[in-house]
Amino acid sequence: MLWPAPRDAEEAGLLAQIDAARLPGHVAIIMDGNGRWARQRRLPRAAGHRAGTRSVREVIEYSARLGLHALTLYAFSMENWKRPKPEREMLWKLLHQYLKKELPALQRNNVRFQAIGRLHELPVLVQADIASAVALTAGNTGLLLTVALNYGARAELVDAFNAILDRVDGNGGMGGLRVDEEMIRANLYTQSLPDPDLLIRTSGELRVSNFLLWQIAYAEIWVTGTYWPDFNRKHLLQAIIDYQKRERRYGGLSYRDAAQ
Ligand code: IPE
Ligand code: IPE
Ligand code: MG
Repeated sequence: MLWPAPRDAEEAGLLAQIDAARLPGHVAIIMDGNGRWARQRRLPRAAGHRAGTRSVREVIEYSARLGLHALTLYAFSMENWKRPKPEREMLWKLLHQYLKKELPALQRNNVRFQAIGRLHELPVLVQADIASAVALTAGNTGLLLTVALNYGARAELVDAFNAILDRVDGNGGMGGLRVDEEMIRANLYTQSLPDPDLLIRTSGELRVSNFLLWQIAYAEIWVTGTYWPDFNRKHLLQAIIDYQKRERRYGGLSYRDAAQ
């Protein structure tokens, strides 16, 4: 993998601080603050969403170049249906344009695309866009890009439990059923993904907003006040640098205590 060429001295300084052997394998991002970015500029919310797609492009391309294995972007939550219809429709239009326009870049960067969420509830055109992007990038072997659309972590768990029950029913009833963690994991939408190592949220909100509740059990969390449309490669590098300074204990002892 070719390490990205820095655009300026600041970026070079950040890149130099990163240990290429200890990159987070899976980075998940709650892309928040498009509306506030627009309000700050007295622009309509739509302008914030449009500006946000630039950050999406940059982060995907840069993650691929860095050699991350997986990037998961929270683009539309099940709760986002509460937004006015014109905003929702604008988001679908933007997604349609994005997928059409960005496919060559995804191909060029060897990115494999997939989507998670209750996809069957999305507008049919969006479903078709997703299906063709998945099919066209299926052979790519680089970054696995997952976009969460009409995604809710509680709904994901409900769907997983129901998938388990359906299978048990088929085997003659629920008698004696016991679920275990592996069974639940294997029935989540993210079954093909490792758990996120690093969870980033933009715009300063200290909450997870129903994102990957099961999977982030031991994710390192990095929050920036930067609004999503202003998020760029330098923020991503800073998040990775901070991640590499953390000690992941998973409930065990710190290195220092364990050595005593
Ligand atoms: C994130 O930005 C994009 C989506 C949730 C679709 P917001 O639209 O939530 O922006 P704020 O939080 O209102 O600033
Ligand atoms: C989280 O952002 C969902 C996405 C980024 C898609 P929201 O803006 O919907 O979250 P809340 O409402 O601030 O919790
Ligand atoms: Mg928001």
